[in-house]
Amino acid sequence: MTDSSFLLCEPTVYAVRQHYEIVYITAEPGAAWVLIAGKRYTDQMCGVVRSGSCTHHVRVPAGELDLAGRYTVCLARIPERHSYFPKTERLFTAEFSFRPLPAEDIRVYMLADTHSELQAPIAAAGYFGSCPDLLILGGDNGNTASNPESVMTMARLAAAVTHGEAPVIYMRGNHDTRGAFAERLPDYVGTDCGKTYFPFRLGRLWGVVLDAGEDKTDDHAEYGDIADYTAFRDAQTDMLHSLTREAAQTCTPEAEVRLALCHIPFGVIETPFSEVYDRWTAELNRLGVDLMLSGHCHRLDFVEPGSTSYGRVMPDYPVVIGSRVNRKIPESYAGTALIIGSDRMTVRFTDVAHRILQEHTVPQRR
Ligand SMILES: [Fe+2]
Repeated sequence: MTDSSFLLCEPTVYAVRQHYEIVYITAEPGAAWVLIAGKRYTDQMCGVVRSGSCTHHVRVPAGELDLAGRYTVCLARIPERHSYFPKTERLFTAEFSFRPLPAEDIRVYMLADTHSELQAPIAAAGYFGSCPDLLILGGDNGNTASNPESVMTMARLAAAVTHGEAPVIYMRGNHDTRGAFAERLPDYVGTDCGKTYFPFRLGRLWGVVLDAGEDKTDDHAEYGDIADYTAFRDAQTDMLHSLTREAAQTCTPEAEVRLALCHIPFGVIETPFSEVYDRWTAELNRLGVDLMLSGHCHRLDFVEPGSTSYGRVMPDYPVVIGSRVNRKIPESYAGTALIIGSDRMTVRFTDVAHRILQEHTVPQRR
């Protein structure tokens, strides 16, 4: 028998590289681990199981969770961590089922720019009538990252939509970089060892998450002295170069769908960093990306491949700008549903009443 009352909300199963990172947040600190088919995976740092935190990250092999279809999150209350013979006072456990991505008709929903709103975005993400196969948190999910509750927005959205039973991908938005808790944000979401950019692989879906940081230059008065995204973007250029080089290993050419995810739709909006984004677009073209998903602009738009670009390199793929937001009327929120079939993808912008506002079709190249 399990009791999930030690959890602030249900866990989130983030897809990162070829792993799942199970993130859960507890009411009190303790040592954390996840059980899959009897095997124990711990929240550890260089072999030391962390016991002093309420935020827990456990990385597990995706194939093992896909096969098992269920997992148990655990928390051991260890009130005094003695140097010798520390004792667990109480062990809490909660079990969850899990559905890997299906091979066909993959149902994806993206919630971008929720800005700490919960009710309307959760209603919109109910478009499929049941949990989507994959939830994408498209950035600016909290309004700022000024306190623990604002960075908890991602966990609360994911819990309400997936109940810990389906994979989630998080891309950071520029508002998620603002405020005193921004440096703690990786404690609350799935990242690649703290990095908010990484490739991922889910069944026949391959993709890369990019993080454009802020939309203005680092010396802008809005940021004071706390923005330093130049080297951060360059590191992502290097990652894309590496992915292109490794493409033969990371992308099998058959039956693959390739996505790029970035909160800021670089390349199709005006930016002071067009040279960097030209390099990113060129690499994504080389990687054979089929579709890019973005938010940021608070509007719904489907930008055809090769259309107006603020850089010199045209994307070969369409770019979805996928959230309608009116901060004065939260119930006007609309998000993006994506259905990945065997020979095409269907993009639908849908509102809280599940009405289809626009529909676009993307043929699959492979
Ligand atoms: Fe934004």
